[in-house]
Amino acid sequence: MPEPLTVLGLGGGLGARSRTGLLLRAALLRAREQGLRPRLYDVRKQRLPLYEPDWDVELPAPAKLLLSEARAADALILASPVYHGTVSGAFKNAVDYLQLLAEDDPPWLSGKAIGLLSVCTGTGAGMQAITAMDHMCRALRAISVPTVVVATENSFGTGNTVDVRLASRLGRMIGELRTYATASRELVGMS
Ligand SMILES: Cc1cc2nc3c(=O)[nH]c(=O)nc-3n(C[C@H](O)[C@H](O)[C@H](O)COP(=O)(O)O)c2cc1C
Repeated sequence: MPEPLTVLGLGGGLGARSRTGLLLRAALLRAREQGLRPRLYDVRKQRLPLYEPDWDVELPAPAKLLLSEARAADALILASPVYHGTVSGAFKNAVDYLQLLAEDDPPWLSGKAIGLLSVCTGTGAGMQAITAMDHMCRALRAISVPTVVVATENSFGTGNTVDVRLASRLGRMIGELRTYATASRELVGMS
């Protein structure tokens, strides 16, 4: 029996009722339903200090956690609220810490499958944030899967639910993550 694939949800918003956090949790729930092992790195909970390139003291615990979770993940889901037509600063700050994986072998997030989520007021801006995240994936040598999920403030129901159309799209994205991450694991096994 192969180990289940681990998927790390990275992102969320800093607000107490962040819809981005809600969407990310909904995605991880679907990942569990599809047999993946979900992990969550919530930027609101972790409160990373601003990334400094020439850090010369021991890394703070939230940074160490992020790096170990990212290394252990077979796939990731990146989730950001839209701020001024792109990703939020808190989200990008977390991604900046992944630079500390540059000396890994293989470096950064090489070959890992990534799903992209954004939450906004208007869907046009949502796609702009997705495009920004897609560029980050390329810089980190990761592979973003075809299905992306853009939610607006109207995509959420009462309580902690997302609407049916969004739920089905999340399911499709998770299915793609599983397919790509499985293929990537098999390729590594062959090398
Ligand atoms: C500083 C700031 C900038 C924002 N800029 C945009 C924007 O450019 N386009 C947009 O559609 N929504 C924008 N919004 C709205 C947020 O994307 C929206 O409220 C989203 O639900 C926030 O995610 P959250 O609930 O996870 O905090 C902005 C909100 C804030 C606080």
